[in-house]
Amino acid sequence: MQHQQVTLILIIDDTPANLDVIYDTLNDAGYEVAIANSGERAFKQMQFQLPDLILLDVMMPVMDGFEVCRRLKTEPSTKEIPVIFMTALSDTESKTKGFDLGAVDYITKPFQEAEVVARIKTHLQLRYLTKNLEQQVTQRTGELVETLQELQSSHMQLIQNEKMSALGNLVAGIAHEINNPIGFVHGNVNHVEGYTKDLLNLMKLYQQRFPQPGEDIEAEIEAIDLEYLQEDLPKLINSTQEGIKRIRNISTSLRTFSRADSEYPTEFNIHEGLDSTILILKHRLKADENRPAIEVVYNYGNIPQVECYAGQLNQVFMNLLANAIDALEESNRGKSFEQVQANPNLITITTELSQDNQSVLIRIKDNGIGMSDEVKDKAFEHLFTTKGVGKGTGLGLAIARQIIVDKHHGSIDINSSYGEGTEFVITIPIRAKL
Ligand SMILES: Nc1ncnc2c1ncn2[C@@H]1O[C@H](COP(=O)(O)OP(=O)(O)OP(=O)(O)O)[C@@H](O)[C@H]1O
Ligand SMILES: [Mg+2]
Repeated sequence: MQHQQVTLILIIDDTPANLDVIYDTLNDAGYEVAIANSGERAFKQMQFQLPDLILLDVMMPVMDGFEVCRRLKTEPSTKEIPVIFMTALSDTESKTKGFDLGAVDYITKPFQEAEVVARIKTHLQLRYLTKNLEQQVTQRTGELVETLQELQSSHMQLIQNEKMSALGNLVAGIAHEINNPIGFVHGNVNHVEGYTKDLLNLMKLYQQRFPQPGEDIEAEIEAIDLEYLQEDLPKLINSTQEGIKRIRNISTSLRTFSRADSEYPTEFNIHEGLDSTILILKHRLKADENRPAIEVVYNYGNIPQVECYAGQLNQVFMNLLANAIDALEESNRGKSFEQVQANPNLITITTELSQDNQSVLIRIKDNGIGMSDEVKDKAFEHLFTTKGVGKGTGLGLAIARQIIVDKHHGSIDINSSYGEGTEFVITIPIRAKL
């Protein structure tokens, strides 16, 4: 046996005098033996120490062996202890009854010493193996449950990544589609500007040379308000050009956001990443019937380009900014438009160089609902969310941490107090550490 402690065998028999032989035999075999002369005493003794195996006499007054066995098998603490019946009866009925009650074996008086020891040894071994097996099963089940959870979360992470890349593709597609028509509108408008200037000049020359062009032309000049037209047309063209410029910027931003991630870190302008992410989230910042627009304050510092995985950093900005908007909306709950207006929703984005000039710091701060200490402790955990089903998967920050800490060897920290707001501080080394 591999038991560390001495194995204890309890004999329950009202005529222990008969048991001298078996007592000695078991002692000689290295077992510790306890004796109880009734079922009641046995249960009392077992409150102090549980035996590893029980030898149980069938014929006893008050509580017979069958009754003792029945009780043993109903008690959670004793039900696993192997019970061997000792019986003078060799009738099959008693034996079957014993087995039915959960006994593992029986021995018939008078005892054959060697046989008794052999049977006890076998059952102890069986018990030991079963116990071991149970432990292994419990352990393996635990491991399997863990693996299953890991699988589930990596599955969700895959979905999230998939969503991001689908969004990236969509955005890239839209940017591409916008780009072509904007290209020719931009080209045409420049020509329109030139032609218009020429025509207006020519018009001026005509007016100087022919100050009295005749009644019909003068009537037409008045009808179309030529003076206003001459003044307004260049302005219209200017503002059209301004509009085109903006659309082109948007399209560039969209492309920045969707930038396919290379396998190696590349130089990236963090500010462009932040701007393009804000652009994608613009629809969530706009005013609606419940609140004015969420204001975004940019405190961009003088920082160099950062060697990084641009697409992944954009994903982090996206997760943090989406969380900030959620937190602001949560803090608006139950407030009127005017109440929110009095204490406006604010997102502040600050960038700066670290003190040792080796990293850039990006702070994304909101004056939303904030986090309790408990939420703060768990915020980065996989699948931790305080948002309703279908609203949050609890992956945003876990992924953000993975990207910043594991992928970029940077850090991401939270400053937050409940009811006041939250600030995330990201540090990324300027030169990628591979
Ligand atoms: N800016 C914030 N202000 C307040 N609480 C926040 C903020 N950002 C995160 N939290 C808290 O941290 C939790 C975890 O955020 P995380 O982004 O990982 O998951 P989520 O937003 O709930 O779900 P999703 O997977 O959709 O991002 C949130 O449920 C929220 O309780
Ligand atoms: Mg989130």
